[in-house]
Amino acid sequence: MKKAAVLLMLAMTMAFAGCGTDSADNSAQGQAESGGKVSSDEAEPLDDSNAGSDTEDSSEVSSGDVLADGVLTVGTNAEFPPFEFVGDNGEPDGFDIALIKAIGDKLGVEVEVENMEFDSLVASIGSKIDVAIAGMTVTDERTRMVDFSDSYYQAVQFVLVPLETEIAAADDLAGKTIGAQLGTTGDLMIEDFEGATPKQYNKAVDAVNDLVNGRLDAVIVDKNPALVFADNFSDQIQYMDFNFEPEDYAIALPKGDEALAEAVNGALAELKSDGTFDELVNQYIEN
Ligand code: ARG
Repeated sequence: MKKAAVLLMLAMTMAFAGCGTDSADNSAQGQAESGGKVSSDEAEPLDDSNAGSDTEDSSEVSSGDVLADGVLTVGTNAEFPPFEFVGDNGEPDGFDIALIKAIGDKLGVEVEVENMEFDSLVASIGSKIDVAIAGMTVTDERTRMVDFSDSYYQAVQFVLVPLETEIAAADDLAGKTIGAQLGTTGDLMIEDFEGATPKQYNKAVDAVNDLVNGRLDAVIVDKNPALVFADNFSDQIQYMDFNFEPEDYAIALPKGDEALAEAVNGALAELKSDGTFDELVNQYIEN
């Protein structure tokens, strides 16, 4: 990600190699590959891969340049426990953070996490950040702007309501004042309920506070955070499962970077087969 560092590295490589642009190009490529313990041979292309599925029209395919400087800059929105939250030390922590760090280890790169607003993650890929991990659901709209890794978790939207409520089914959400985190799939769902008034928040927990304070009738948020919030405010609110459509979480990647997608998917597959993935699920999600 650090362009200046990459250029410096390239310049140094050229100086040492004492030859022209040809070998400089090759060495940049070589660094990208040797940086990753997952070589393209080991990384099995997975059949259910979302990544790179839409890249035919992409004229410029960078070959893993993102890893060449040894740093993977990862955007998240640490307002989504247990996938990401701000830990006691003030740094982002959670399942997604542990997962992307484990992926970074497999690829031999350092992971730097940038905590930012959820709604700006997708647009920041390729500029402020290399990739994003944020309990992000694969949607058609996002797939137009970014590629996604293989899915790593299945989720569903839950509805938080006060302990005393007349909401007992999804249809009862019609005409209600409903909160959600801005730009999330829960936010986009509100318009499905006739006459509902949407209220958008930068943080899901702010919506939950307004629910607790009686300013909202309901909050729509992903299942696992909903369980955490319902538990934190168990004297006032409860969660409901109305069997909405399942959603898939995946890592958002720069569009058309097939080498990066292959490296990330390869690392993810290794973490699944060596048991690390399940350990993280137990540690963060199912405890
Ligand atoms: N899964 C939902 C979506 O993709 C919500 C994700 C919110 N994540 C977060 N880190 N705040 O829209």
